Amino acid sequence: MVIVPSPDVIGAEIQDVDLAQPLSDAEFSRIDAAFNKHAVLNFRNQQLDEPQLIAFARRFGEVERIFLTHYAHPKYPEIMFVSNIKENGQDIGHADAGRVWHTDMSYTARPPRATMLYALEVPVEGGVALGDTLFSSAADAHDALSPEDRQRIAKLRAVHQVAGRRARTGTGQEDQALRYQQPAVVHPVVRTHPYTGRKCLYVSKGECEGIEGMPKDEALALIDKLADHTIDPKFRHIHRWRVRDLLMWDNCTVQHLASLDYEWPSHRRLMHRITVDGTIPT
Ligand code: SIN
Repeated sequence: MVIVPSPDVIGAEIQDVDLAQPLSDAEFSRIDAAFNKHAVLNFRNQQLDEPQLIAFARRFGEVERIFLTHYAHPKYPEIMFVSNIKENGQDIGHADAGRVWHTDMSYTARPPRATMLYALEVPVEGGVALGDTLFSSAADAHDALSPEDRQRIAKLRAVHQVAGRRARTGTGQEDQALRYQQPAVVHPVVRTHPYTGRKCLYVSKGECEGIEGMPKDEALALIDKLADHTIDPKFRHIHRWRVRDLLMWDNCTVQHLASLDYEWPSHRRLMHRITVDGTIPT
């Protein structure tokens, strides 16, 4: 197995490993360490059926239940379809997941440690893959703040609400109903990574609605400033998809965004998505 870091502040490709086969503890430890270090890992050319994908995810922790149940795989409820494909006029999966910069499920009390996407169909135009996924390092963004700014935000806590500003910009009605059942949660603005100890900015424009004890206008202005800083191009890594990529990312260290630059029915995109349990942000 070979670990090839990307030239960016995050991201690595893991080569010469077959995730369909059980991994030895030594191999898994190297992957786990690489995941903590590089935060976004890609494994090219994997041939994974659903049980194999679930088995690989389980090496990192408990696999989570999906709350957008209408997009769950009918046989494997741990797997959600992320897809623009329509059958009988209906989306078979989450068609616009990742439409804004975010970190997965920050609106839950215990957001997932890791998200995995396994590419089954990738849209292509003129030989170029569409639908890149963009990542940004919230750890490097934190480290780049001035000491004064770091001190100012160190003890702040933000309110995360999935039915917040992002939801109001237009997703499907069924999604909206499920989103509105999720109560708001409060998390530190600066999260300490549970494995590396690095400090990571943990706010996004889409899902943060306020900061405890701060007037709303002031809080939203600060959230937007920190969120814009987090996605500065110097902290980024872009993943260009190929069919049979297994990509995984660390929801504490990075935020991500999907490029929705492809259209049904001329382009088809189908991913299997799975998330692994995390820790309560501290
Ligand atoms: C997501 O945000 O979970 C999906 C990202 C993508 O589809 O590229």
